[in-house]
Amino acid sequence: MSGLTRIAVLLSGRGSNFVEIAEACARGEIPAEVVLVVSNRPDAPGLERARERGVPAVVIAGKGISREEHERLVIAAVTEAGARWVCLAGYMRLLSPAFVERFSRRIVNIHPALLPSFPGLEAQHQAWEYGVKVSGCTVHLVDADCDSGPIVLQRTVRVLDDDTPGTLAERILEQEHIAYPAALRMLLTRRWRLDGRRVVFE
Ligand code: GRF
Repeated sequence: MSGLTRIAVLLSGRGSNFVEIAEACARGEIPAEVVLVVSNRPDAPGLERARERGVPAVVIAGKGISREEHERLVIAAVTEAGARWVCLAGYMRLLSPAFVERFSRRIVNIHPALLPSFPGLEAQHQAWEYGVKVSGCTVHLVDADCDSGPIVLQRTVRVLDDDTPGTLAERILEQEHIAYPAALRMLLTRRWRLDGRRVVFE
């Protein structure tokens, strides 16, 4: 077995952050490999993008089963694949405290705003509508609340007067694609600890 950290990516949609993570791993920029993609939605384009890259991709639909049962299946798939870390990349479900505890400090998420501003859905639209002059993206460790875990890395984006929510989201996405691989590289190659909410790199 290689010395690479095995990562599972959970997604519900397009999968562009998954692609950036997988490619950074393939280039050797992150000492890890994506060994599994899990989607709760059968129509997520990210599934195909995984398969194109030879990454096993499975659908574990949430409909019709309890959250507990759904998470049991996801944890089984992630464990079976030997993944130690879990990256959420556009995964539209909240994880339970039990799931978070199972992979304690090894679950990462990306959010398209500068947390703690604009958590939840359509963050880019929320930020645009509020009228902020700077927004961006946040990579954070995951806890059992929505978009609330300790922050690993943030990148900023200026909001331009002629931006629409769409153009702002595009520029934020460019920064997400830099931030997520960079944050994983930091977490997996540097010594770090939690000091309260603060992720401190030594
Ligand atoms: C990204 O904007 C991410 O910040 C948010 O969901 C979106 C996922 O995009 N959590 P993609 O599926 O990675 O392209």
